[in-house]
Formats: sequence, C-alpha cells, structure tokens
Amino acid sequence: MTHDKPRGADRLIVALDTGDLVRAKTWIDACSANVGMFKVGLELFTAHGAAGYAAVATGGKPVFLDLKLHDIPNTVSGAVRSVLPLAPRMITLHASGGTAMISAARHAVEMVGTAARPLLLAVTVLTSLDASALSAIGVAGGPTQQVLRLARLALDAGADGLVCSPREVSVLRDAFGPGPALVVPGIRPENAGSNDQARVMTPEQAIAAGADWIVVGRPITGAENPAEAAAAIAAVL
Ligand code: C5P
Repeated sequence: MTHDKPRGADRLIVALDTGDLVRAKTWIDACSANVGMFKVGLELFTAHGAAGYAAVATGGKPVFLDLKLHDIPNTVSGAVRSVLPLAPRMITLHASGGTAMISAARHAVEMVGTAARPLLLAVTVLTSLDASALSAIGVAGGPTQQVLRLARLALDAGADGLVCSPREVSVLRDAFGPGPALVVPGIRPENAGSNDQARVMTPEQAIAAGADWIVVGRPITGAENPAEAAAAIAAVL
C-alpha cells in the first residue's frame, strides 16, 4: 500500500528506551513540539504493557510500537490483533519469520480498515549481526544479500516497509523504488558520539539517501537538554 510520506519534523521518531514511565513522560513533554512520533519498544512495553503505552500516547503524538514480533503465524496474528486497540501508527515483525507469518500479520492489521491501520514494518537483519555472526547461524553471503532477500520476501508477503540501517537505505531504494516505507535508526548528528551504533549517518545523510523516517534515541534522550537536541535535528529535516 502507499503511505503518506512525512515531511520536516514529522520525519523524526524519538525512541523512548527506558522502563521508567516518569522519565518517558519527561522526554515526551520536552520533545513533542519537534517530533512526529514516539517509539515504544520492548523495554517500556515489557515493563508497563498497555497501561504504559496509554500513558505515552497521552502525549498526543502517534506511536511506533516496536515489538519485533516473531512466532508462528497464528500467534503473531493474535499478537497483532491484541495491539490494534492501542492504535499504533506502525508495528514491527521479523522478516525471517517467513511469508506465512507476515501474511497473517497483514490480514490481522486489515481488521481496522485501510485508513486507520498501522503500517506493518519488517526488520530484515539486525544491525548487531555482522557477516561472521550470520555465518554462525547458517546464513552465507553476508548481510547485504540477506537484507535484500528478506526485504523482497517481506514486501511480497504484505509488509508496507522496512526498518533498516542507514547504509542499507540506498540499496533498498535502488531495489524497490520509492514505495516502501523506510524507517531508519542508527542516526547520529555531527556533534554526537556513536554510542554502540556501529554504522551511523547524520539525519541529513539518511534523508538524502532515501529514509522516510529517522529513529533517534540517545542523542536526544541522553542530551543535557533533550528539547534543544530534538529541535536541532528537526530543523535540518
Ligand atoms: O539510542 P539510539 O539512537 O541508538 O536508539 C536507536 C533505537 O533504534 C533503539 O530504540 C533501538 O532499539 C532501535 N534500533 C536500532 N537498530 C536497529 C533496529 C532498531 O538501533 N537495527
């Protein structure tokens, strides 16, 4: 399906990576004026569940619920149905779960109607896996080949887009054109350290390469002044 491509600060997603709801609320209050969406991931969701999610959503921004689902099709379908009442704007699953799992998730999201349904995004190869880690789990050929293989499978099975590292963006745009939503973490402004992200790009570079949304965590949430850090990134988008 096509999705509306975001513009300007709407392209910025801030990752609320904490198990502390009070801290998450502080970040939401500080950044709301300059971001398009907040990301709730495993840390916050496993700590506080739907109640924690609701507390975040009261910030009024759409939410990217990043649970990276991966199980048999029936279970993933059930998990998707379970989160639909929360009305996330995007949800994630692992492309390596296969065609039947992705297709089951797609059928499940369609229960809420085309306009309101969340975008279904597939994670291909975790950026923490390099060629030797992939080889150890039986994947030959290296990360790029595997990313392309899983991306094609996911899009064919009904995913709306992909979560990918900055260095994969242009390869995926070349292969699949402008249609798929590309959501890109691993972003570091010029003046920020890389933390544990190995392959990073600046916000401008990622957008120029073809990212639709960028996901930023610690350069904003770990900054002395998160509001200023978010505003500075939003200003270049
Ligand atoms: O703090 P930082 O900006 O590195 O946070 C990046 C966010 O993006 C985290 O929530 C992390 O889980 C997520 N992410 C990532 N790399 C991926 C997929 C998701 O860093 N390949």
